[in-house]
Amino acid sequence: MKNEDKLGNSINRPEADTPKSDQESTDTLTNRQGHPVTDNQNVRTVGNRGPVTLENYDFLEKISHFDRERIPERVVHGRGAGAHGYFEAYGTVGDEPVSKYTRAKLFQEKGKKTPVFVRFSTVIHGTHSPETLRDPRGFAVKFYTEDGNWDLVGNNLKIFFIRDPLKFPDLIHAFKPDPVTNIQDGERIFDFISNSPEAMHMITFLFSPWGIPANYRQMQGSGVNTYRWVNEAGEAVLVKYHWEPKQGIKNLTQTDAEQIQAKNFNHATQDLYESIENGDYPEWEFLVQIMSDDEHPELDFDPLDDTKLWPEDKFPWLPVGRMVLDRNPQDYFTEVEQAAFGTGVLVDGLDFSDDKMLQGRTFSYSDTQRYRVGPNYLQLPINAPKKRVATNQRGGQMQYKVDLGENQNPHVNYEPSTLDGLKEAKQTGKPHTPYVEGNLVREPIDRTNNFGQAGDTYRHMEEWEREELITNLVNTLAPCDERIKSKMVEMFYKCDEDYGKRVEEGLRNASANNTSTREPIGAEGAEDAPQQAEEKGHSQDPY
Ligand code: HEM
Repeated sequence: MKNEDKLGNSINRPEADTPKSDQESTDTLTNRQGHPVTDNQNVRTVGNRGPVTLENYDFLEKISHFDRERIPERVVHGRGAGAHGYFEAYGTVGDEPVSKYTRAKLFQEKGKKTPVFVRFSTVIHGTHSPETLRDPRGFAVKFYTEDGNWDLVGNNLKIFFIRDPLKFPDLIHAFKPDPVTNIQDGERIFDFISNSPEAMHMITFLFSPWGIPANYRQMQGSGVNTYRWVNEAGEAVLVKYHWEPKQGIKNLTQTDAEQIQAKNFNHATQDLYESIENGDYPEWEFLVQIMSDDEHPELDFDPLDDTKLWPEDKFPWLPVGRMVLDRNPQDYFTEVEQAAFGTGVLVDGLDFSDDKMLQGRTFSYSDTQRYRVGPNYLQLPINAPKKRVATNQRGGQMQYKVDLGENQNPHVNYEPSTLDGLKEAKQTGKPHTPYVEGNLVREPIDRTNNFGQAGDTYRHMEEWEREELITNLVNTLAPCDERIKSKMVEMFYKCDEDYGKRVEEGLRNASANNTSTREPIGAEGAEDAPQQAEEKGHSQDPY
């Protein structure tokens, strides 16, 4: 059998001339020691009724491997779907040659293709949770470039809840299920949000239809945080990244989502998989916004603040390339579950900015992956670059191979050395060396402007979006503690007079039946689900 799938990708099958024992043919089941398995139906027992004996290697290997089939779930973004494809560069950024701003090789030539792997996800709930829940969606892209990997770990929404990484565990704890009941709780969420005014912009998106994208193909993507591009001369600009779906953008109302969820909780994974199987390959255009690398005192926000949009009229979206997803994974666990993306994974010509959130994230991703997947996670094919790797890193759990250089003396796993060890690479482009000074402080940024853009976003929405937003907010806020409600209403007023008034009125008129904070966020009328289940349940006699 060919060791390639129909697209020419290698499949890990034995070669035709692999040695076989007498008992074996090409379809014989073996264990991991290569022993042919003669009975896969019956454990070994004393007499056919048991007891079982414990020396039965096939059984022990099978069951103990099964016992370890799962690795720790991602602490966030547990539910996801992935696909392979390619990125094709335009060679330009808008009307200008891209080399004016970045020397990153993948962008330089028109038509140049770079393989990618993309993982889409929801954030809060676990691996098999419904894909209809109100939640941001992850949009993580791994570019396997000739200079090594570049990961762009983004979301569908273009902004975030917080701007300081120290707050991330608290934000996530508030949105994750209650540690006692194990149920997500709107009161815990708004307890946190009402004390974190910087989240008002994100909340305005999240409770509107933008909080439930119809599927993964018809949503946008964004790098959210601010990065730098560096050119050959070592000069830098600030950039924000955007993905625009060629399929158009579609979002669901709460009612639509509930109807879909009643019958299918995997619809987004199914949609992505089937579109690709049917040759209907999803495609996104890749665009950047560019800003000079300084504090921009003329703006009423800080360009490094990830709760803010960069206004499009001042900082136009400039196309840089396109991405097509044309191949499904062959094995979900191998490629999607073990995929590991991180904001620290950049190539020459791309750089970090001083954005505090970005720096906090950059520590967190590879740290969690060394725990979740293991210290050698970068040797797994999905994470390994599609280019030469030669390091002096050795050992660690599940080291699969040694990353030896072509002529490296295997005794020399250190550097520097005269005895044919690895050598440092030549620096090609001029390094970007920004000057940094300041007092070490623990302080919020100066231009917080927590409500301005939230109000703009509210006013830019169409009326049906605003209605949906208010209804969803009122449904989740109505049963909350009065102190939380009044803090929230005060902040909605600060965003926009009409916004505050409508939430306040909605809360005043909220149905007296709306008493549970344990409904899915945005939902109403779900609090009696336990009672309904009991009433609708069909009584049966014990057997
Ligand atoms: C300080 C803030 C943040 C921290 C500490 C953080 C941390 C994490 C961690 C620990 C994971 C799990 C990674 C894994 O197990 O492989 C993760 C996943 C993810 N995060 Fe963040 N995150 C932060 C903010 C953000 C923001 C602002 C975005 C949006 C741009 C984002 C997008 C994602 C995505 C898309 C994934 C899933 C990646 C995948 O598909 O494997 N995160 N994050």
